Amino acid sequence: MQSVKKIINELSLEEKAILTAGHSEWETNRIKDKVYGIFLSDGSFGLRKQSGPGDHLGISASEPATCFPATATLANSWNQKIVEKVGRALATEAKAQKVDQILGPALNIKKNPRGGRSFEYFSEDPYLAGKMAASLIKGIQYNGTIATPKHFAVNSQETRRMASNSVVDERALREIYTTNFEIAIKEGHPKSLMSSYNKVNGIYANENKHLLDEILRKEFGFKGYVVSDWGGDNNHVAAIKAGSSLEMPGVGNLAAEQIIRAVRSGNLDEKQLDKRVEEYLNVVLNSKRDSNIKIDWLHQHEVAREAACSSIVLMKNKNSILPLNKNYKVALIGDFAKNPRYQGSGSSLVNSKNVESLFSTAKNYPVEIIGYEQGYLRNDKEDEALLNKAISLAKKSDIVILNIGLNEASESEGLDRLNLRIPKNQLILLDALAATKKKIVVVLSAGSVVEMTWAKKVDAVVHEYLGGEAGASAVWQVLTGMYNPSGRLSETYPIEENDLPFNNEFPQKKPNVFYKESIFVGYRYYETAKVNVAYPFGYGLSYTTFFISNLKISNRGVNVTVKNTGKVSGIETVQLYIGKKDSELIRPSRELKGFKQVKLAPNETKTVTIPFDDKTFRFFDINTNNWQTENGIYQIMIGKNVEDICCQGNFEINNGINPVVKKFASYDKYKKADFKKITTKDFRELYGRELPNNKLEKNQELSVNNTISDMYYCKSWIGRFIAKWLKKKIVQSLQAGKPNLNFLFNYNMPFRAIAKMTGGLIDEAMVKDILFIINGHFWYGFGRVIKDYFLLQKGEKELLTFGNKKE
Ligand code: BGC
Repeated sequence: MQSVKKIINELSLEEKAILTAGHSEWETNRIKDKVYGIFLSDGSFGLRKQSGPGDHLGISASEPATCFPATATLANSWNQKIVEKVGRALATEAKAQKVDQILGPALNIKKNPRGGRSFEYFSEDPYLAGKMAASLIKGIQYNGTIATPKHFAVNSQETRRMASNSVVDERALREIYTTNFEIAIKEGHPKSLMSSYNKVNGIYANENKHLLDEILRKEFGFKGYVVSDWGGDNNHVAAIKAGSSLEMPGVGNLAAEQIIRAVRSGNLDEKQLDKRVEEYLNVVLNSKRDSNIKIDWLHQHEVAREAACSSIVLMKNKNSILPLNKNYKVALIGDFAKNPRYQGSGSSLVNSKNVESLFSTAKNYPVEIIGYEQGYLRNDKEDEALLNKAISLAKKSDIVILNIGLNEASESEGLDRLNLRIPKNQLILLDALAATKKKIVVVLSAGSVVEMTWAKKVDAVVHEYLGGEAGASAVWQVLTGMYNPSGRLSETYPIEENDLPFNNEFPQKKPNVFYKESIFVGYRYYETAKVNVAYPFGYGLSYTTFFISNLKISNRGVNVTVKNTGKVSGIETVQLYIGKKDSELIRPSRELKGFKQVKLAPNETKTVTIPFDDKTFRFFDINTNNWQTENGIYQIMIGKNVEDICCQGNFEINNGINPVVKKFASYDKYKKADFKKITTKDFRELYGRELPNNKLEKNQELSVNNTISDMYYCKSWIGRFIAKWLKKKIVQSLQAGKPNLNFLFNYNMPFRAIAKMTGGLIDEAMVKDILFIINGHFWYGFGRVIKDYFLLQKGEKELLTFGNKKE
């Protein structure tokens, strides 16, 4: 193969410009006889290859594929081997389907579990998220398929997702929102990375040099190429300058035209363009394209089941009611038991090959099911008849297995959750069943955190999250004791929603999202502020018990002994946390810095070693703008979860620094994570810069970066009418239990994206013309739209002559 540099030398300016943008929804451009295009598909936990009409919202059909457990589910396994195995299985399907690049894994930090894509992300903790993502990437890339960790970075809400500005202090940016990516990149070596839709501190992620150059390349040593999120390339020239190589999806020749003009006018140095093309070609021309692979669907399904088993979390098991007594007469209740909730909606949606349900797979397990009842409607409408039938079935049984959880409308890309509750009609059913005094085992199906005050009314809770197509048999394996549950929560379950920090500001409907909690995300907040939770981070029960003791700390790491003190073999996840009580710095009282799983037969004892690494003691020092280690004594804690610390010791460091701590007015409140008292003004002090204006007012002049939903505030009645109409349609679709993702996407989309999402039909000039209309100058704007439309058509024709004819 020719060297990439040589190829670039032979490419014309026009050809290079063309390579910086897609050819269609999923394909990149090719240059005849010189460069081939590649095919990209979503596939965080199952391939979504669209052979027909393409869309990035999970609307049109895709090829059948194995649906593995959702990312949030996999995270609960804390098992890097199984996650890598899932990655390999994904890569096998990609090869067989002639997909060169998988758009995943998604590893954003769950700032608030109500984020609509929580099911698609690993954790609230960057260390765990990074480790899991690295394993998935390694798996995906084992056969030459390109992995694409996404969405870099600070992308925590779906509301206004393409037009929100994440205002985050530098320390939180480094310690929380990019450490996950750092681990994924340094350990997984992905060949590509997707930037996020949002702005970070005022600059779109896709054109943010701080993110894409200083942090990603210079600090993390990223060697691959950056692709924009779909429609997320705001200013293509700025993106090329900052470090993003490819705009997706295809937008006709508009992107190329902008690059050519910028180079010719001296606004873009051709060397910068060459660099981006080189980054892209280095990956593309080195990725293997042979593929005569046949998919062994049974094997794939088996991998999905194994992963689901490892990820199930046993949350409650009163009087060891589980595993189920074989002689029990079981009533199986709940709509989800027949029509499973096993994946979320949006671009990750898989056209699953072989979906199991608890109902359809029960026959393969040693359980006596005496009947099934639906119990509730999926759309939260109450139904007496269903309720009564469920009660009478329960009365005939020894034990009820009740499958409840979140419905489809609650977990989707494009839409943040309204609250943390599971639907009311399901809780009414639970109460009615509890009143029968029968034993109840809840199988919970939900891709994210829910309030669980109801758990006290039942005997056991098996949380399967979204288990993928083989989730149901994994649940039976756990219920019947064939698999001893080993999953541990990768996120905290607060007692009630109000305990979530700054929950009343989530999702932020205004343009700027102030990341007021700073580094205190998830358990870092609950532990430091001493707020009780329902189930802590890292929590999960087993059918056996473990005793952890004998902590030994050395310069290299820690050793502990773990003994299985129960009657069956099982897996414990030993978790290493560190803290530093005597620190002047604002820091969380506990932070996860390592973990290891150990499998033990009854009475068996093993020594577990968890090494320290470059991240164990570091903090991001805003004074030196660098990672530093603070001198002094650290608490080294080994726990079964973040609350349940089994052994603790001290470790001293004296070759670090004594940080200079500036005590601003709200320092004390931040130190204690006393968020009930923290105001926007306090955050401004921590942030250290002026905060952007967050106002949206009636009769406002809108710009290209305002969202379609902002038309609610615009001068023109037409605009206000459209915004209200869209909102009505969205609400109607939600009430019907099927969120209309198309409407949602458009509602939250900024005007500028119209030029990126209409395949070249509307360009940036026309978007500005439309804004004249919206801003109250109807006839002027209308005239310009017509004029610019014809200009565009003419220009497009001319551009098509420079090589990349549409076929
Ligand atoms: C999502 C990405 C996805 C892309 C392509 C976007 O809407 O944010 O995660 O990869 O669409 O489907």
